[in-house]
This record gives sequence, C-alpha cells and structure tokens, in this order.
Amino acid sequence: MNKPRKKPEQLRSHRWYGVKDLRSFGHRSRTAQMGYHRSDYAGKPVIAVINTWSDINPCHTHFRQRAEEVKRGIWQAGGFPVEMPAISLSEPFQKPTTMLYRNLLAMETEELLRGYPADGCVLMGGCDKTTPALIMGALSMNLPAIFMPAGPMLRGNWRGDTLGSGSDAWKYWAELRAGNISEDDWGEIEDGIARSPGHCMTMGTASTMTSAAEAMGLTLPGAASIPAADSRHAQMATLTGKRIVDMVWEDVCPREIVDSRAIDNAVTAVLALGGSTNAIVHLIAIARRAGVALDLDRFDALARRTPVLANLRPSGKYLMEDFFYAGGLRALLAQLADLLDASAPTVNGRSLGENIDGAAVFNDDVIRPRARPLIERDGLAVLRGNLAPDGAVIKPAAMEPRLLKHAGHAVVFRDYNDMAARIDDPQLPVDADSVIVLQSAGPRGAPGMPEWGQLPIPKKLLAAGVRDMVRISDARMSGTSYGACVLHVAPESHIGGPLALVRDGDLIELDVPGRRIELQVEQAELERRRAAWTPPAEHYGRGFGAMYLKHVRQANDGCDFDFLEAGPPTPDPEIH
Ligand code: FES
Repeated sequence: MNKPRKKPEQLRSHRWYGVKDLRSFGHRSRTAQMGYHRSDYAGKPVIAVINTWSDINPCHTHFRQRAEEVKRGIWQAGGFPVEMPAISLSEPFQKPTTMLYRNLLAMETEELLRGYPADGCVLMGGCDKTTPALIMGALSMNLPAIFMPAGPMLRGNWRGDTLGSGSDAWKYWAELRAGNISEDDWGEIEDGIARSPGHCMTMGTASTMTSAAEAMGLTLPGAASIPAADSRHAQMATLTGKRIVDMVWEDVCPREIVDSRAIDNAVTAVLALGGSTNAIVHLIAIARRAGVALDLDRFDALARRTPVLANLRPSGKYLMEDFFYAGGLRALLAQLADLLDASAPTVNGRSLGENIDGAAVFNDDVIRPRARPLIERDGLAVLRGNLAPDGAVIKPAAMEPRLLKHAGHAVVFRDYNDMAARIDDPQLPVDADSVIVLQSAGPRGAPGMPEWGQLPIPKKLLAAGVRDMVRISDARMSGTSYGACVLHVAPESHIGGPLALVRDGDLIELDVPGRRIELQVEQAELERRRAAWTPPAEHYGRGFGAMYLKHVRQANDGCDFDFLEAGPPTPDPEIH
C-alpha cells in the first residue's frame, strides 16, 4: 500500500463519465434522468453499494435502511453512491440450498462491478452464503471493497428463557418428537425465536463468516459484532460508506488485504469462536480467489494450537448480543494476540494489531481468558482414512465427548428421501451405538451440499434419552447445529467416493484425537462393491444447475467453480 493518491481522471468511472464522446453523453444524460446534476458525480468516486436485501430474506430486513445510511457516508466523504441489488440467498427459504447459489452471487458481484462504472464497492451481506459470495466476487474483480455485515438479531425469548437461532429449534424439535413439550409450546417458540432484523445470533455460519471477514481485515474494526437493531449498527454503516471513498483515492484493493496472514488470522478467529464447519469450505474458496493456498491440513494445524474462547451457542451458552456487550470480536482477538499476525493490513489503513490494541473484555464468562478457555483446542478437526481419503471434518466442541472415539455398525440411507422415509420406522435396526450414514448429499449428489449433516436421531432412540450419535455424510451442517456429525466427506459418494460403498452393518471407526475415520471392510470386498457401483444420474440438464454440476469442486477444495478459482482479474470491458 502507500500508493500515490489517485487523480479524478484515473478513476475507473472517468471512462464512463469524464470523457467527451457519444457514449459518455448517454451515461451523463441518463444519470441526469435519475435526477442527479453533473456536480453530484463529476470527478467523484462511484461507489457500488451491492445490497443483498430482499423481501424473502428476514436476516436483511434492515438493509434497505442501512443502504441509505451507507450512502449518507459516501455522499459526506465526496463519493457518488449507486445501489446495485444482488441475489439475496435467503437461508431459511431457498431450495434446495443456498449453497447451490453461492458461486452465482459471487459471479454476479464480480460482473456487476466489471460491467458498471464502479470505482469501489460496499458489500452488504450477512445471511450465511452472502458473506463468502460477496467477498469471492470482490476478490476476483479486485476493486477497493469494504464489507458491511448485517449484524446478528437480538436474543430469542420464550417464557423468559433465551432462545438461539437454529440450536434451540433443533433442541425443542427433538423434545417435541420425544413428547416432552406440547404443540402449543412449540408454537410459542416459533413466535419468539427470531424477533428482530439480523442474521442468526448463535455462532452459526453467518456470525462465523462476518467475524472471519472482520478478522481478515475487510470490515471496519468492531463491525461484525454489533446487533442489527442497535443504533451503533446504523452508525457503522455510515462510517463504512465514508471509508470506502478514501479507499478508492488510496487505491486499497482487497487482494492487498487478503493475504496468507489475513487468511490465517481469519481461520484462528473462527476456531477461537467455536465457529461453523461451513467456514472451512468458504474460507478455502475465499483464499484461493485471493491466490492464497489454504487446505484442510492448515485448518487442522491451527486448530491444534487455538483455544475456543467464545462461550457461544452451539458450543457454549451465550448469544451474539451477549458477545457484543462483552467486548465483541476485537476483545476476543486481543486475547489471541500471540496467535495472530498483528501486521496484517485492514481496510481502515491500520494493521489488525493496531485495531485490536487495548480492546477490553467486559464479561469473562462470555469471552473467556486464555487461562480458562471454553475448550483448550480443536474447535474443528479434520479426519482422514479410507472412508474420506480427501478429508472430512467434525466439530469436537459441539459433540458429546464419549463419542470422540467410537466404533459402531452402519445404518445406511442412500439419499435424503430414503432417510426421511425410514429414520423413524420402529423396525429400523438401529441402537445408540449405531453409526448413521447418509449418501448422495454432497456438492454434486444432493446437489448443492445442503445442511443435512445433523442427521436426525431416530425417534425411538430419542424417546429412550439418546441425544447424540455418530453420523456421517458428505453434506454440510448448519453452524447452529451440534452433535457427533462427520461432515464434508470427500470425495463425495455421488462421484464414487468410498462413502458410496458403505453397506448396512459395516463397522465404522471414528477416532477424533487420532484424526481417523475408517471403514472396517476388507479391501477385496470394497473392490467388488466398486466394480458393481454405477454412477447416479445427474440432477440438471440445463440452466445454472447444469453449469454448477459441470464445474463445482469438491468440499476439500472449497466448492468453487473450477473456472473461477484463481488467476488475475478479467480485464475491464472495452469502453465504446
Ligand atoms: Fe440468515 Fe441464519 S437464516 S443467517
């Protein structure tokens, strides 16, 4: 960094607005048509406000208003804001899964920035896939970019008890199925679990990824922890708008910020937060867009040295609102200073170390001191073995410790519908020691690698008091979920990974401390099964789905499209 300050005629938008030709006449006259005088934009940075607001996305309800607050900051700093809506990826509604469309939003972000006269951008996201998608697209385009997180919603409430997104839905759904709460109770929980704008307020994928964005230097300090409903969130939106204008003049581009230091800092933050397993897939994709090598082994290596300090659900007790009041991410990162690279640059022009210096913890049960971590290490763990030659992941922080080393016989479901049809069958030959296996739930098999990985515990076992079992799939798991769920098995069963060869009754051994997952079946028998295996039909023959199936990489490679992963930014279009 420390480049010479840009001149107005060096702005990318100058080629749209600043030159004297017929095309720029069109650009200026059409801008006038929208009610802007040339003095509103002439010689100013044009800032694209990429907004993932939608009527169908409850996590981004406030983004219409927040976009106005971002624009206020851009105007004040001498920029020209242009809001550009992008596909919203609403986690609770989009089928089969938002993950199918993460790369579509990344492509849309990149192409919006390329096709229009943007000099820089504010990325407005938060609901799970929106954060990685926006960042991936911005990295590929590499214009000055700053991320504005949606912020978590307020704590849920039911009869005075705190409810957490996802986690308490799974918990009380199990209690309903076990007959311990009534339908009326369940209805009251439905009304009280999500009671303000903002993304899920557990340490699910949304909180994990917005925190990762802050730790890698892409937000203003403190932005990721502020609840969406707090007035300080609106203030942060305006400050973010102000800052991006200076970033354009200073030519601060995201590939200068997201380097190997930033990626390691983000991984370390995710681990200390007890963050979502989904972060593994997203951070690998983000890193590779930035040209940084990141693989599963790096996650595992950092997990072995990083304590979980955030006492947040699903691994711990509290919610994001408590985390904010306790000091938020800056305070947590300050506790980890020796495990971070403090020299990493950030969007405000200061280093990460400068941004977290002096950040205090105001409640040391929410943000634990290093001497009293929630979990000493291994917030996430990477498993390998003959069942997952390219890796699988598990969240030891969110499972019953008795299952860390476990052997059991497989109960296999060939796909999600098979599981839904049979899981509660009283005749299903399953007991508390069984290992439940779901096939065809990976990037290409499901398709889209949905969050099916927290496979349900059979009703008869729930009624007997069982609340955790070993479960294995090539799916992902919601960051708000918990349990002994082996996820992201690679290669996936749909393309002939060993998971496709598992049969009912096979012995499977899980050894989390030893990082192993093994199918105890003779090699000759596995080869017989492989010879008899036929690839399933593909799900899509046309449209985006067909493109997705052709180009999506496996989970251990971040599920990006092969043609988007790396390389220099595509050149700007010829301007005519
Ligand atoms: Fe949007 Fe959870 S549903 S973050």
